[in-house]
Amino acid sequence: MTSKALLAATALVAITLSLPATAAELTVGFSQIGSESGWRAAETSVSKSEAAKRKVTLKIADAQQKQENQIKAIRSFIAQGVDAIFLAPVVSSGWDAVLKEAKEAKIPVVLLDRDIDPSGKELYLTAVTSDSVHEGAVAGEWLAKAVAGKACNVVELQGTVGASVATNRKKGFDSVVAKNANLKVVRSQTGDFTRAKGKEVMESFIKAEGGGKTICAVYAHNDDMMVGAIQAMKEAGLKPGKDILTVSIDAVPDIFKAIAAGEANATVELTPNMAGPALDAIMAYKAKGTVPPKWIQTESKLYTAADDPQKIYDSKKGLGY
Ligand code: AHR
Repeated sequence: MTSKALLAATALVAITLSLPATAAELTVGFSQIGSESGWRAAETSVSKSEAAKRKVTLKIADAQQKQENQIKAIRSFIAQGVDAIFLAPVVSSGWDAVLKEAKEAKIPVVLLDRDIDPSGKELYLTAVTSDSVHEGAVAGEWLAKAVAGKACNVVELQGTVGASVATNRKKGFDSVVAKNANLKVVRSQTGDFTRAKGKEVMESFIKAEGGGKTICAVYAHNDDMMVGAIQAMKEAGLKPGKDILTVSIDAVPDIFKAIAAGEANATVELTPNMAGPALDAIMAYKAKGTVPPKWIQTESKLYTAADDPQKIYDSKKGLGY
């Protein structure tokens, strides 16, 4: 090879190396929590289709609700040299060490649907989440309006202990309770975001509250726990949605079925499409160095029986919930 040709070849290699990665070349590792709820199943399924739309290779690791599995998955993604890591953090604390490792390996991390403690803010590129304090407040405001000043004892089914969304949904709801002396949270316990646990905890609330007679409303941090609670109320001879009001979060198809049947009253929607905006952010970051905002906020919309629940059920039921 002549020195001119060698120079040209070297220049070509240099240009190729500095070219931004195209979507087709991107591989993203996603550490998913598990499949505790219909919402999470839909998030996994929507993430796959959003990645396929953009021709991004998405590797999903299911952590089966365990933070230690998520940490292992992140380390494995780092070892594989993925272009980015998506993390749905099961709890908010304990991420600093592993996220520092990702940062040292120059792999950007995007949080999906849950947040981590403020100490870790420097360790991820952006977070695609709803405002979960606001979700709790929307649920509380709906209840305050529904009972219109009447005394109302509320039982609360909390999400996973230590999860940002559980802490925040409680905080948001409590802020409305603090402004409405007629609302009182008389019992509050975790149902771990699952139907089975939601049912079990609701059974114990009913027993402790005179067969449910002293309960005016149930607030659940997700719809799956509410679906379990509805079952518990029916088995106790109560009429959910009438004897006891319900308000929960996610907007999964089954809650619309319950609203259509008059067995549930309200839900606050959480979109399962967290990966779409996250992929767009990563692609722009990789291609042009565009730094996304630290928080990409998704919408929180309230639905009730006034919103044609049967139609919403029909439109959502094929979406992987
Ligand atoms: O982080 C989002 C929450 O996690 C959803 O509301 C709940 O269903 C899921 O398990």
